[in-house]
Amino acid sequence: MEEVLVNKLASIVGEENVKNDIIDRYCYSVDASIYRSIPDVVVFPLSTEQVSKILKLANANELPVTPRGAGTGLCGGAVPLEGGIVLDLTKMNKILEIDLDNFCVRVEPGVIQNQLNQELKKHGFFFPPTPGSKKMCTIGGMISTNAGGMTAVKYGVTRNFVLSLKVVLASGEVLDLGGKTLKRSLGLDLIQLFVGAEGTLGVITEALLRIIPLPEETAVIVAPFGDISDAAKTVNSVLSCTIPTAIEIMDSGIIKAVNSYIPELNLPEVDAVLYFEVGGTREEVKKQIELIVETCKSNKSRNVQWTSDPTEKQMLWQGREAAGGAIMNLDKRLVRVYEAEDVCVPISKIPEMVKRFQEISKKYGIPVCLYGHAGDGNIHSGVLIDVRNQEEWGKLKNLTREVYETAMSLGGNISAEHGIGVLRAEWMERIQGAGLEYIKRIKKVFDPKGILNPGKLGM
Ligand code: LAC
Ligand code: ZN
Repeated sequence: MEEVLVNKLASIVGEENVKNDIIDRYCYSVDASIYRSIPDVVVFPLSTEQVSKILKLANANELPVTPRGAGTGLCGGAVPLEGGIVLDLTKMNKILEIDLDNFCVRVEPGVIQNQLNQELKKHGFFFPPTPGSKKMCTIGGMISTNAGGMTAVKYGVTRNFVLSLKVVLASGEVLDLGGKTLKRSLGLDLIQLFVGAEGTLGVITEALLRIIPLPEETAVIVAPFGDISDAAKTVNSVLSCTIPTAIEIMDSGIIKAVNSYIPELNLPEVDAVLYFEVGGTREEVKKQIELIVETCKSNKSRNVQWTSDPTEKQMLWQGREAAGGAIMNLDKRLVRVYEAEDVCVPISKIPEMVKRFQEISKKYGIPVCLYGHAGDGNIHSGVLIDVRNQEEWGKLKNLTREVYETAMSLGGNISAEHGIGVLRAEWMERIQGAGLEYIKRIKKVFDPKGILNPGKLGM
């Protein structure tokens, strides 16, 4: 990048907040996906005003700008495909206001989910959306991908918690959207356009989020199944009588992987387990445990266990959160590639999707482990390949296509929570249909020169 532009950026954020040597730039060429592309410069703004000045400069010079949180995204959303500026928002990490009377919290985008919840816990509150990456991922990233996670079955996804946003547009103009009221019937809701937009329409520099009181008690129930299809059917039976905070599934491959990662967890090595979390008053929790245990038993689960011990609960969740990475332990010659990993189907189609996953895995001779948020119909598949073998990449592409087509034919979609990024950009036409043309027009309204996160979302 021209020195004069680097100097201008430094005059906005300070020299210490601009990095343009090759080592730093290389570090910012990736997220947690398979993609990489080296930016020309990495900039760390500290305020909305600085973001606005950076975007004005970038817009005038038609420089691509890729906003970035913690880089935990799985689809390449934070990879600067066309170079230019990586706008790292992790230094904007202040909790600006905790308003317990109005059940909300105002944060900067770089605040980490788990840190926010540690702070809220002191007041007896929490922010429910809980991605597997909660210890690393930022609120800005969660909003930009409309992250879901473990608790969506009861509380909903990130979108349902955003009350207001401050957004900087490509021109540098700042929009203040929404407010502290819980209801609004004011015509089109621009906030929801920016949720899930993966930084293609504007840069989020502040968010007001809904929070809720922590339940008096929680418990985790682990139900082992001799056949994964029984576990899959159980999801519907449980949801017909109660809504737990979480319903997670793990198949035999994931169970093995998690046990090798945390041996003391010692999960039963069966075909599948369901994890449930329930929460509420002591009486509510007791009642929910009874209902869920009975339902699991009548769906052929044996030795259902439950615990409300804090250490045991934490260890069980640690096992689940580690599942994605632990898959690597299954076969040291193979690598887990994040592809075909995030489909969502209607609840009644979960058993069918699980069966089809198994058939597709067999057809291509590629191991596929299943886990994820069964309570939402959101099944993650951990696909393992020999990345040195070009043929395996070809097979993986076909496997992915078949997984997506299967999910869609069952009335589902290809990404419940990880997003589009680069990974699924070529699918935008198929998933949006005639809507894609209107999405492209909306993009032009907010970012006429196309400087914001170019190459993403099929735009
Ligand atoms: C999880 C991530 C992969 O649920 O979404 O662990
Ligand atoms: Zn997930």
